[in-house]
Amino acid sequence: MADVTTQDGAEIESAMWRLYRDFFDMAEKKRRWSIRDDIPWAEVNSNLRPEVTDVVESFTAVELYLPDYTSKILPMVRASRGRAWFYANWGYEESKHSLALGDWLLRSGTRTDEQMADLEGKVFAGEWNLPHDSALGMLVYAMVQELATGLNYRNLRRRVMECGGDPALSKLLLYVSVDEQAHYGFFRDCVRLYLKYDTAATLEQMRRVMNNFAMPAISDFADGQQRVARIKALDIFNEDIYYREVYLPVLATLGVSRAEMRNRLPSRKSAVEVV
Ligand SMILES: [Fe+2]
Ligand SMILES: [Fe+2]
Repeated sequence: MADVTTQDGAEIESAMWRLYRDFFDMAEKKRRWSIRDDIPWAEVNSNLRPEVTDVVESFTAVELYLPDYTSKILPMVRASRGRAWFYANWGYEESKHSLALGDWLLRSGTRTDEQMADLEGKVFAGEWNLPHDSALGMLVYAMVQELATGLNYRNLRRRVMECGGDPALSKLLLYVSVDEQAHYGFFRDCVRLYLKYDTAATLEQMRRVMNNFAMPAISDFADGQQRVARIKALDIFNEDIYYREVYLPVLATLGVSRAEMRNRLPSRKSAVEVV
């Protein structure tokens, strides 16, 4: 992957495998949920504000890129059993997210079958591509993206409660945000391992990824900018939230200073967009 010795590489791999087994055992024991049985579907609120239901649709669209997410990352991590097995389980969990959100859009009556088919058609018309070309860069990206996604769902849940509430959507968003938080935890522990064994390469990837982070997929939609604007207008996610609740906490938990995150090459200082 990076400039690690064969011995270090083997130690990283065996540690990542242990992280995966712990992650999987915990998921099986504490985190499994059923779309059919665990969501109070009878309590769906059909009168949530359209701005909120539009965001539910946008998040459904992001989750619908699953075939691209899994098919493109697996070849990159194929040699790492821990990461490859993780992504197999991850794909199962992420598949539930789009199913559950899509079910809510239909059961609430805010979208029809035809509108959902149209949304799927738009998603599958454009391919999502890996935003970084190295396995270590993608590891850092996944860590940040999962934490950010969990916050998006948590904040959407708050907005739902503030505008009339919906017990079904609230429960669903809670399950999904707990899943995203668990995904973040696995990737964070993997990044911590790399920081220990290959500090320079890991810091370099953290600088590249975290100083220029963008959420995936919806910006590719024809109305992607409007969708992002709606998410910002509801204070669900924006640059400030990224800096305060993603960027700084990740640095703190990994013991990385802000000085270490400054680009070393003066000519690249303008690359920092979101902080
Ligand atoms: Fe998800
Ligand atoms: Fe996730």
